[in-house]
Amino acid sequence: MARIVVLISGRGSNLAAILARQDAEGLGGGRVVAVLSNKPDAPGLAHARQREIPVEIVEHRGFATRAAFDDALAERIDRYEPDLVVLAGFMRILTGPFTQRYAGRLINTHPSLLPKYRGVDAVGQALAAGERETGCTVHYVTEGVDEGPVIAQSRVPIEPGDDHAALEARVLAAEHLLLPRVIAELCARRGAPAPSPASAEP
Ligand code: GRF
Repeated sequence: MARIVVLISGRGSNLAAILARQDAEGLGGGRVVAVLSNKPDAPGLAHARQREIPVEIVEHRGFATRAAFDDALAERIDRYEPDLVVLAGFMRILTGPFTQRYAGRLINTHPSLLPKYRGVDAVGQALAAGERETGCTVHYVTEGVDEGPVIAQSRVPIEPGDDHAALEARVLAAEHLLLPRVIAELCARRGAPAPSPASAEP
């Protein structure tokens, strides 16, 4: 079983979508073993508590530096021995040592077609630019914000007359499908048997 730790900061609708898929079709043999938040009052924590999934709070305000916060966060994450760490609306910039520690097993969802519209309010940026479509991206996390290798994307049309709320809801709905699907694929790939030596022969 692949062990999944999810990090959130707020509403947690992506966490809810991950858990719904875990309950329904499964996550490719993966299972959410803990949910961490930097905000003790993050509403999304309710989704974990309802299912009696362990919840951990590491408040960034208690630390003098980013590095000290990241060390404490990593220490807490490592207690769960994760195979995959998922940033699902986790609103903190992570340091290089943290991203390197989880290289290849740390992923994030972002509401744009990266490399377009990195950073905050990606939906507003796409609207303001007059785009006809935007979307969402699941990518590996590296030190540069929203810069890591793309794993998968979903395209979302921008309709005439869309306001920010309408477009944000459409993009979020696409994230709710894409992120659980990618998690399931990564977990399934991890659990797949290695090709036998015979199959590698010409
Ligand atoms: C998502 O759109 C995510 O891409 C962005 O913040 C939002 C989080 O929503 N980073 P939720 O907390 O999962 O509802």
